[in-house]
Amino acid sequence: MQPSKDLIRDFFLQQAELFTDEFYLDEKPKYGKNKDAMNWDELTTQVMSCTKCELSKTRTKVVFGCGKKDADLLFIGEAPGEKEDLQGEPFVGRAGQLLDKILAAIQLTRDQVFIANILKCRPPQNRTPHAGEIEQCEPYLVNQIDLIQPKLIVCLGLTAAKTLLRIESPLREMRDKIYTYHGVNVIVTYHPSALLRNPNLKKFAWEDFQKIQKIYKENRESI
Ligand code: URA
Repeated sequence: MQPSKDLIRDFFLQQAELFTDEFYLDEKPKYGKNKDAMNWDELTTQVMSCTKCELSKTRTKVVFGCGKKDADLLFIGEAPGEKEDLQGEPFVGRAGQLLDKILAAIQLTRDQVFIANILKCRPPQNRTPHAGEIEQCEPYLVNQIDLIQPKLIVCLGLTAAKTLLRIESPLREMRDKIYTYHGVNVIVTYHPSALLRNPNLKKFAWEDFQKIQKIYKENRESI
C-alpha cells in the first residue's frame, strides 16, 4: 500500500515544525513503475509469510531472492532445492557454486546482480513446479521486477523460460533470441544443473554469458 496524501502532508508538517525548512528524509520506500505494486518491505513481509499454496506446509524457509535491489541483471532459476530451503538463499548448492564461478568468469559477483526463482518455496523432492504453484507465486516475481527495474533478465533453464515467455520451444532454440517480459529484455540460457549433468553444454552457456557481459557493460557505460 502506498502512503496516503494525508499521511505525506502530516509528515511534512511535522518535519517543518521540527526542522523549519530543512528536511531529513530516510531512504525513500521504493515503488516501481506499477503504482499498485508493493514496496520492498511490504513485498518481503507478504512473501515471507505466504501460505497461498501447499508448498508453504513443507518448506523450511522461504527463499525470497538475494542481491542488489537495483541490479541491472536479474537471474531467474526454477525453485529452491534442499540447501536453499534450509538456508533461505537461492543457488547455494552445487548449481549455485557453478553459477558463482560463471559470474566470476564475467567479472561479476552475486552481490552485483539479483538472483531469484520462479517459486519461492521448495517443491518436495525437487519435483518440477506445478502450474498452480507458478500461478500463485509469479506475481511476487513480477513485483520484484517492478522494484528492481533490471536492464536484462536471464532465465536459467526451461521452467523460468516457459513461465516468463509462455512458449514451449526447446531451450536451444530460445537461446538466440531476445524476448521481453513486463517491458524488460529477456534472454534464456541453460540452468547450471543442466551444465553439471551435461558438460558438453558449457560451451553454449559460455557464449550466452559473454553476451550477458557485453549487455551489462554497455549499460554501465551508458550511465
Ligand atoms: N536451482 C534453482 O533453480 N534455484 C535455486 O535456488 C537452486 C537450484
